Amino acid sequence: VTINDQTFQRGPQGATHQTARGETPTLTTQQGVPVSDDQNSLKAGPRGPVVLEDFHLREKIFHFDHERIPERVVHARGYGAHGFFELTDSLSEYTRASVLSKVGQRVPAFVRFSTVAGNKGSFDLARDVRGFAVKLYTEEGNWDLVGNNIPVFFIQDAIKFPDMVHAVKQEPDRGFPQAQSAHDNFWDFASLSPETTHMLMWVMSDRAIPRSFRFIEGFGVHTFRLVTAEGKSTYVKFHWKPKQGLQSVVWNEAVKINGADPDFHRRDLWDAITSGNYPEWELGVQLFDDSFADKFDFDILDATKLIPEEIVPVRRVGRLVLDRMVDNFFAETEQVAFCTQNIVPGIDFTNDPLLQGRNFSYLDTQTKRLGGPNFTHIPINAPKCPFHNFQQDGHMAMHNPKGRVNYEPNSWGGGPRENPKTGYVPFAEEVRGPKTRERGELFADHYSQARQFYISQTKPEQMHIKNAFVFELSKCEHPVIRSRVVAHLLNVDQDLAQNVAKGLGLDALPEAAPPARPVVSTLPASDPLSILKN
Ligand code: HEM
Repeated sequence: VTINDQTFQRGPQGATHQTARGETPTLTTQQGVPVSDDQNSLKAGPRGPVVLEDFHLREKIFHFDHERIPERVVHARGYGAHGFFELTDSLSEYTRASVLSKVGQRVPAFVRFSTVAGNKGSFDLARDVRGFAVKLYTEEGNWDLVGNNIPVFFIQDAIKFPDMVHAVKQEPDRGFPQAQSAHDNFWDFASLSPETTHMLMWVMSDRAIPRSFRFIEGFGVHTFRLVTAEGKSTYVKFHWKPKQGLQSVVWNEAVKINGADPDFHRRDLWDAITSGNYPEWELGVQLFDDSFADKFDFDILDATKLIPEEIVPVRRVGRLVLDRMVDNFFAETEQVAFCTQNIVPGIDFTNDPLLQGRNFSYLDTQTKRLGGPNFTHIPINAPKCPFHNFQQDGHMAMHNPKGRVNYEPNSWGGGPRENPKTGYVPFAEEVRGPKTRERGELFADHYSQARQFYISQTKPEQMHIKNAFVFELSKCEHPVIRSRVVAHLLNVDQDLAQNVAKGLGLDALPEAAPPARPVVSTLPASDPLSILKN
């Protein structure tokens, strides 16, 4: 780092004036007018009142007053970096997406890691899910894989998301706790929503206190589709596997680190990338078809379930490398807008009701957060392939149509045209059924995978989970809520439930919460396919 040692010129009152010379450009107003003095307001006499006429003063303070934009309603605290994605194994048999077909093709990438619950200024090592949002600037448009470091989610339907987020964030009267799930409202909601049980197991595990962003996995969570040019669809789950491996800290370390360096994860990523130690992830896919999906005891549209890797192995098809930090945190990391509906030809949605709600939510919130419909014009959000459309006007419009033509069809021969060959064609899924708010019956097993996760952990990891439940629930003051959580844990693992009850000093074990479907009680260790029906 070179320090600019330009000699200082002292003004009459001792203020430092660093003046333009040599390579140093002249400071200007936003209108480009050169500024002669940036240290003193314009006054009527050296001791007189400041005059309203001082356009430089007013512009500077006005702009400062407007610096803050609303923080993200969730995932407010995050850290981003640039890099690239390179395909190593073609999926052209399953998809027409160029980014997943052309081996060796590199596309630019931007990734933002985040915590979910804490505000923008909260600490990095909260016990929390980590966001793992990836934007790939492909030659067919931007593809955003807006995932987390945990393969499942708390809820099954987006209609519960506002409740879940209200419950996990600061309580509305007292304005705390910040950045943690250890309080009555969160546990009240969780204990009244058995579908959260599987995700809770992951959140109470070491996964929720990672050593750094470089040591986390990423998951697209939902089941998506890959679609060929002929319209054939294959289900897909997306994974990011860290080449660095998986690492976490233990809770005592997390607490100390948060006190000593709340920016621990930010600093780690900055230090690694600026010193040339580029983190890398492999893109993995689990592929399966309808008949395979029908064999599961759960619904593949249910985001609280994962597809066991023993049953559908993860095929590694590409690599994501982060090799450049941002030039400006606000311009890039704050203004980046990921959205699940940003997909490219050859990739498609499923009817997962959580995913369908997300597709509405992100664009809607970003229109507010980033001040209108033109945030795709901000460089970090703009595609890097050619793009042309007739969208116009609105706040901050940078790409209005040129010339007379701003509609089609038109007789002037100008402007872009639709393209049936290269254009996005949704998968022609047949949709039939009564309009209903009912959930599919296979959404009802909330405990089997929670149990499978718990028993797949090593003894020390199981101990961390027990301790985490005891610690977090000990911050929950209401005994009924504590008991309710233990009642769910009794369906996950007897020993876990007993230890948590003991750690909390409960007088007696509650009755187990009645499961809506029978709990599958074993891991598919020797014969993984045995957990499939038939
Ligand atoms: C932000 C992941 C569910 C609404 C984010 C971010 C991630 C993420 C990674 C941060 C993006 C960034 O870094 O800028 C997920 C995952 C989910 C999930 C993996 C479940 C599988 C939902 C649901 C909703 C939702 C169900 C709403 C119905 C939002 C909103 C933001 C956000 C409003 C803030 C976006 C912004 O201001 O740019 N989510 N989310 N999320 N998520 Fe989700």
